[in-house]
Amino acid sequence: MSPVGRRGGWRPREESPGKPKCFSLHLGILPLTVFLLVFFGYGFLSQRSQKSRDPGAVTSVDVGELDVREAAALSRMVYAQPKTLTPSREDVLVLTPWLAPIIWEGTFNIDILNEQFRLQNTTIGLTVFAIKKYVVFLKLFLETAEQHFMDVSMHRMEMISDFSERRFLQEVDYLVCADVDMKFQDHVGVEILSALFGTLHPGFYKSSRGSFTYERRPKSQAYIPRDEGDFYYAGGFFGGSVVEVHRLTKACHQAMVEDKANGIEAVWHDESYLNKYLLYHKPTKVLSPEYVWDQQLLGWPSIMKKLRYVAVPKNHQAIRNR
Ligand code: UDP
Ligand code: GAL
Ligand code: MN
Repeated sequence: MSPVGRRGGWRPREESPGKPKCFSLHLGILPLTVFLLVFFGYGFLSQRSQKSRDPGAVTSVDVGELDVREAAALSRMVYAQPKTLTPSREDVLVLTPWLAPIIWEGTFNIDILNEQFRLQNTTIGLTVFAIKKYVVFLKLFLETAEQHFMDVSMHRMEMISDFSERRFLQEVDYLVCADVDMKFQDHVGVEILSALFGTLHPGFYKSSRGSFTYERRPKSQAYIPRDEGDFYYAGGFFGGSVVEVHRLTKACHQAMVEDKANGIEAVWHDESYLNKYLLYHKPTKVLSPEYVWDQQLLGWPSIMKKLRYVAVPKNHQAIRNR
């Protein structure tokens, strides 16, 4: 996806000092603290962006929506026939028990998906936080997002929820929330888009639920008992329709606030609350660990046909200030 969808005219909002702001991609000088929202668009965005959308109306359209909204008429395409008796992948699970696709290389035809999303003029917002020392990751993140994304911490939940209400509902269809200490190394496109999606954490895709690093203290709002859980989702890459991301981030933020009042903070911070939310609000798509990988830690196993969004090596001690 080409970056034509960025609204060039978007300026930082007037905010109280010290509060992170939203910027378009065209940042001249990076300030020390940025909360960046990058827009990506599909289809005829200049026309679309002039439309002002009623957030109320969007709510009714987006609820329960799965991927493409309507069966738009495609033009003639020639591609390999899907074979009923030949599974697209034999080595991995490609469908959850609630019939959400699990996105692995080899399971989708990107040309068909591109055509479908293009016909709907889909727009996507990519939120990324770079606070304090993490600004060093921004350049590589943005450069590789240009190349591969749609080819063609604790406060994150609160802020995404806030911005969803105030801006995103009117500006984009989907939101993708990503860590900044990562880079896009291969294609990440419309195949990820769905009402609500999470990504299998690369460290736990082979693990049984009892060993997931869910919050295990019953006192916490993020608590998940050992006999529950589908997958362990990564905090570094999730998203969905603006309405669904708003619900998710609001619920996670509220859970954190309640925990804080009770003097407890979940073991893996926002990731723990995300996991609790996605256990009881099943995602409509699940991304394989191709979409969050750490090659330094995990190498390159043969089931990973592509490593798409990967950790940039960092010195945890030196960089982390929280
Ligand atoms: N972050 C930040 N500044 C910080 C700590 C975190 O901007 O001082 C943001 C950044 O986007 C980062 C994300 O919060 O990618 C999650 O933190 P981190 O990547 O350190 O978590 P890890 O992936 O190591 O669990
Ligand atoms: C680590 C990762 C953390 C957290 C943790 C969960 O590999 O760096 O951010 O996700 O796994 O156990
Ligand atoms: Mn990270």
